Amino acid sequence: MRTEFSANLQHYNTFGFAVKAAELCHLETENDIEIFASQLDPDTPWRVLGGGSNIVLRDDLPGKTAIMALQGKKILEATDSTVLIEAAAGESWHDFVSWTLEQNCPGLENLALIPGTVGAAPIQNIGAYGLEIKDVFHSLKAYDRHTQSWRTLFAKDCHFAYRHSIFKEEPQRYLVASVTFALQKPWQVNLAYADVLQRFKDLPAQDIKPRMIFDAICEIRRSKLPDPQVLGNAGSFFHNPVVDEKTYLQLKERFPQLVAYANPKGWKLAAGWLIDQCAYKDYRRGQVGVYEKQALVLVHYGEGTGQELIQLAQEIQAAVQEKFGVTLSIEPSILP
Ligand code: EPU
Repeated sequence: MRTEFSANLQHYNTFGFAVKAAELCHLETENDIEIFASQLDPDTPWRVLGGGSNIVLRDDLPGKTAIMALQGKKILEATDSTVLIEAAAGESWHDFVSWTLEQNCPGLENLALIPGTVGAAPIQNIGAYGLEIKDVFHSLKAYDRHTQSWRTLFAKDCHFAYRHSIFKEEPQRYLVASVTFALQKPWQVNLAYADVLQRFKDLPAQDIKPRMIFDAICEIRRSKLPDPQVLGNAGSFFHNPVVDEKTYLQLKERFPQLVAYANPKGWKLAAGWLIDQCAYKDYRRGQVGVYEKQALVLVHYGEGTGQELIQLAQEIQAAVQEKFGVTLSIEPSILP
């Protein structure tokens, strides 16, 4: 296991905050995971980073930090109805999605261009354009610190919900080594999301190919979301809040333009719209701000800190609370 001390994490988080990790361990094999797990004790704080695309590094990280770097991907089995594909936790999510299309195994294309790694994808049940990981998830292999053994977790074990899983409930328990996806055959186009449907509405379904969806999703994302290589960010910074029917109706009456979608638990409000209405879009304070094209995305201009970003996030939460009476919760994990 390769270990560095006092390592700069600037290139390990997509916000680009230049904090240090006291001890940084690069996990390249399943054996590295076991060694890392065996070195953890109750007094040492620790965490695993994937692509660093869903974290805010507020300060230097004490204890042990692991970078999940396991590589490898393969088709496990293909029947007339399903293809099972496995990828190691350290693989880039987007490169993996692109590779599945090259292998003629479509089904993940709606999740193109999401930053981060394969291993991080189930942790927050990544989702976009009408598809969530839970819809294509088969199982994952993880080291369980409680039993000190390897386990296979299936979808029912993972407690998937909107941007949520068991790995959020028990963050100190599992180290994910690989994830297996079950892709259904024959492929069916997923046009559930209005932006995507709009692009393909004039084409007969049989003329729409997976690569066309992949390209369209990449184009839509590039037009709305900043490239972390150019401008530090972690995608959506807040969850879209879910409110009950009564609250929704009251808000809709006061704000007829309110953007909301019916949801099994009530109504999911577009947090970007709420923030936009509080005039925070394209707002800048010092080295942090709100993206000019999507108010749900906070950005870092290069010389700021996670502390400044959190302060801005709290200010936005207070403004939305004041205007709409709705509480926004922060999506990325704040470390330490
Ligand atoms: N809106 C505004 N102003 C804004 C931003 C959005 O009025 O500044 C409105 C839009 O016009 C639209 C609605 O809000 O009517 C929703 O916006 P959008 O379609 O951009 O999607 P979102 O709800 O903001 C969610 C996910 C994204 C995902 C997209 C597409 C969350 C927290 N975010 O964003 O996920 O890519 O849908 O499915 O659920 C991420 O998690 O990092 C992420 C980017």
